[in-house]
Amino acid sequence: MTVEDGHHDADVAARTERGWATLSVAILVILTLLAAFAGIHRATMPQPRVETTDPSRLHLSGEFVESNLGSLLEPNGAVTVRAIGQQYSFTPSCILVPAQTPITLRATSADVVHGMLIQGTNINTMLVPGYISQQFIRFEKTGDYLMPCQEFCSFGHEGMWGKVKVIDKAEFTSRAKNGGRLSCVGE
Ligand code: CUA
Repeated sequence: MTVEDGHHDADVAARTERGWATLSVAILVILTLLAAFAGIHRATMPQPRVETTDPSRLHLSGEFVESNLGSLLEPNGAVTVRAIGQQYSFTPSCILVPAQTPITLRATSADVVHGMLIQGTNINTMLVPGYISQQFIRFEKTGDYLMPCQEFCSFGHEGMWGKVKVIDKAEFTSRAKNGGRLSCVGE
């Protein structure tokens, strides 16, 4: 190998290296632009569905008055559960639902931000005062599930626990015949 050849090889190597460096910078720039576009685009669009409520009047009127909290068997056979979180409990503290039934869980907070997590399921939502959190769930089997508050909501947070009790569909239907809202508080 002559000296000329050595220079030539170094040129090729430098060119190749520059090529790859340019490519990787270009990829970084494209990714940054994509992330910025996605973030800005999302932030400037309204959320697809926002439902609000007045936390100071929850107990006085509207969907979350005390007599409307708990589980309701709808005419179509589905179940709607309404609950509120407040420092430091859920109302109802024991949610009663049937197995093998589509359930809509609607909840909000009466004071500060709480969390609602049903262990062993994918239900995990924040309860923000002024907003309604809606989740859909279906339990295949009967059983009990713990439902802790998973957002720190001040000194009583650790003691804020609820429960979900899943019972047989037929039993739920017969209990729902008397009307009203069902729960398992005190059972
Ligand atoms: Cu409520 Cu933590």
